[in-house]
Amino acid sequence: MSRLRPGLLSELGAQLPVIAAPMAGGPTTAELVVASSTVGTLGFIAGGYKTPDRLADEIHQVRARTELFGVNLFAPNPVPVDAEAFGAYRTALQPWADRYGAELPQQPQEDDDAWDAKLQLLLKDPVPVVSFTFGLPPQQTIRAFQRAGTRVVQTVTSRAEAQQAAAAGVDAVVAQSPCAGGHWGTWSPGGSVPSITAAQLVAEISPVVPCPVWAAGGLATSHSVREVLASGAEAACVGTALLRCPEAGTQPAHRRALASAAYAETVVTSAFSGRPARALRTEFTDAMTPAAPLGFPALHHLTTPLRRAAAAAGDPTALNLWAGTGWRHAAEEPAADALRRLAGA
Ligand SMILES: Cc1cc2nc3c(=O)[nH]c(=O)nc-3n(C[C@H](O)[C@H](O)[C@H](O)COP(=O)(O)O)c2cc1C
Repeated sequence: MSRLRPGLLSELGAQLPVIAAPMAGGPTTAELVVASSTVGTLGFIAGGYKTPDRLADEIHQVRARTELFGVNLFAPNPVPVDAEAFGAYRTALQPWADRYGAELPQQPQEDDDAWDAKLQLLLKDPVPVVSFTFGLPPQQTIRAFQRAGTRVVQTVTSRAEAQQAAAAGVDAVVAQSPCAGGHWGTWSPGGSVPSITAAQLVAEISPVVPCPVWAAGGLATSHSVREVLASGAEAACVGTALLRCPEAGTQPAHRRALASAAYAETVVTSAFSGRPARALRTEFTDAMTPAAPLGFPALHHLTTPLRRAAAAAGDPTALNLWAGTGWRHAAEEPAADALRRLAGA
């Protein structure tokens, strides 16, 4: 069994060196976070895409049952879409919208995911941990959380990002490899996607930061968890491995796709959201990945009606079937069993 070393996670009350990673868009539920806490695993509420009121409600639901949880937010790092590129991509999507009877928005919608209101909420009523992805918040924001008694964790995808996060004083970094399912938290979405495993990224980052490193990306077996711990990680963050658990809010069509032999691989694509993210390869990702411009959250909002209509039709083809490289190991089992299995317990 993989043991938890004394440090940040044990101070937070965790007993296993495994973390239930945040998964916005439905999969992370209060039930999933609470279930992870029952086996001594820190779980993250996914604050992204939610209104501040819905986030407050979910925190309330979790806090009534455990104090072993964190909240994840999308840190503003705008990737505005080019208006012409948006129009061209909208035109390219139209046949898909027609297929599902979906109405695509005419104009790009840019927003910051209610950043200020979510900060106010979390500073007024502090939670044990916050984590940020997509960008590094200002140092004064990090300090404000720490003064409020909240530990601050930053997702990083390279040694340079890790060094900047450490210099800003975060309490831990999540070293996320592009093997991860869903969005890759890079701060520079226009750059190339490196071929690097979580264990390799941890080995690059650990020697240059003074804080604990949590590993993420493609970790779906106890063997891969042991490997990142041996590379120097304090813990392994898992997302995809929990997508088929009954406590997760994963769409039925997404669940079926994860269990189906019809999918052969995952790809990194900006076609759904305008930011690189890993998903099962489908006819949609083949057709639309080359056409997709960068632009977050404009492309997320553009494809939302299409994805909703595809989900309602029970057709996974145009769904964002987020999946990390370890997706074949995602099993239909209670989250507590999955997390214990991953920790080798
Ligand atoms: C469906 C899904 C949604 C995700 N949403 C978020 C999110 O809201 N915030 C975030 O920081 N990471 C998000 N991620 C990334 C995970 O937190 C984690 O880094 C990743 O799942 C780890 O790789 P794995 O999927 O191979 O286990 C998401 C991943 C998935 C699969």
